Amino acid sequence: MGFSIALIPGDGIGPEIVAEARKVLDCVGSRYGHEFNYTEILMGGCSIDAYGVPLSDEALAVAKSSDSVLLGAVGGNVGNSRWYDVAPNLRPEAGLLKIRKELGLFANIRPAYLFNELKGACPLKEDIIGDGFDMVIMRELTGGLYFGERHTEEVDGVMTATDTLTYNEEEIRRIAVKAFDIAMKRNKKVISVDKANVLDSSRLWRKVVAEVAKDYPEVEVSNMLVDNCAMQLVMNPGQFDVILTENMFGDILSDEASMITGSIGMLSSASLGSSKLGLYEPSHGSAPDIAGKNIANPIATILSAAMMLRYSFDLDKEADAVEAAVKKVLKDGYRTIDIMDEGMTQVSTSQMGDLIADNI
Ligand code: NAI
Ligand code: MG
Repeated sequence: MGFSIALIPGDGIGPEIVAEARKVLDCVGSRYGHEFNYTEILMGGCSIDAYGVPLSDEALAVAKSSDSVLLGAVGGNVGNSRWYDVAPNLRPEAGLLKIRKELGLFANIRPAYLFNELKGACPLKEDIIGDGFDMVIMRELTGGLYFGERHTEEVDGVMTATDTLTYNEEEIRRIAVKAFDIAMKRNKKVISVDKANVLDSSRLWRKVVAEVAKDYPEVEVSNMLVDNCAMQLVMNPGQFDVILTENMFGDILSDEASMITGSIGMLSSASLGSSKLGLYEPSHGSAPDIAGKNIANPIATILSAAMMLRYSFDLDKEADAVEAAVKKVLKDGYRTIDIMDEGMTQVSTSQMGDLIADNI
């Protein structure tokens, strides 16, 4: 089958890591008989340099008409780049916000997966890690506290700031459906995280999730309060499969979950909307400190490409093959410098890409 992919290398290490993901995708294509057609577009600092804007209308149109988007990262050195001291809508990150909004990507999926081979990098004790963990956090991305009405005013001589946490049924339903769909492709277990002992929005959240759950009789569903969830993540991470939660809770919990996997260079992510078109990118940024040195870890981007195969193209077998290839290469002892350990073989960005492609 043929699939069109908008490729956004971006800034810093972006072009280096995206090249490796493409290498692996091409290998999947020839191995399994698919054709991936790429259109490269500019976004971020490189687009500002070329066109004066972080994302041009032409580039956005290409993304919109593609089957999926694969992104490296955007941005320069924080506080010290030519793109820093400019109006907010002319910064590299504005391109990212714009593309997410324009593509209607309301669901952010971040897997937190601990590779057996990297157990040493996990900050949790061995008896807590147990057989390891493999979960995804499904975070609502375009509603809740971050998008509610806000204002600051003086009330009776005291400065007072207000933020509001608003959700409607439709917003909750569409993210819940995504979470259950993803659970069906995994271990069929959803834990919905809220603060229903206090918040009205959480009570509505719980009610809608229970309604959606009726359409997924195979999925085991339960509720957990967010403060308890924060604790459970470091006490018994193995109990989680899919965590479904609102925007701010998901923001906080996904950072907590990702750090217990040990390395930022390993973490993939996907942002999905109501169509099959998704945006896939590593969780890390453009790492300007190591750009151009061929030492960045491309695995987060390669695993993001695997998510693309799974969620946008329904190529589960192919996604499994990419994940298995990553595992194999780690098992064989190959490491980029960020995950380097005693007795392992250090490889460059492009060597890591070659090794993973060879193992497809
Ligand atoms: P960063 O994630 O780029 O780097 C943090 C640290 O992790 C650095 O020491 C870096 O060398 C290291 N690192 C990151 N990815 C790595 C990889 N694949 N392999 C090995 N080491 C890796 O975060 P930072 O430095 O805060 O931000 C740099 C720029 O990236 C900023 O302009 C920021 O706004 C942007 N950014 C962009 C994102 C995106 O495009 N989605 C997300 C996060 C940050
Ligand atoms: Mg955050």
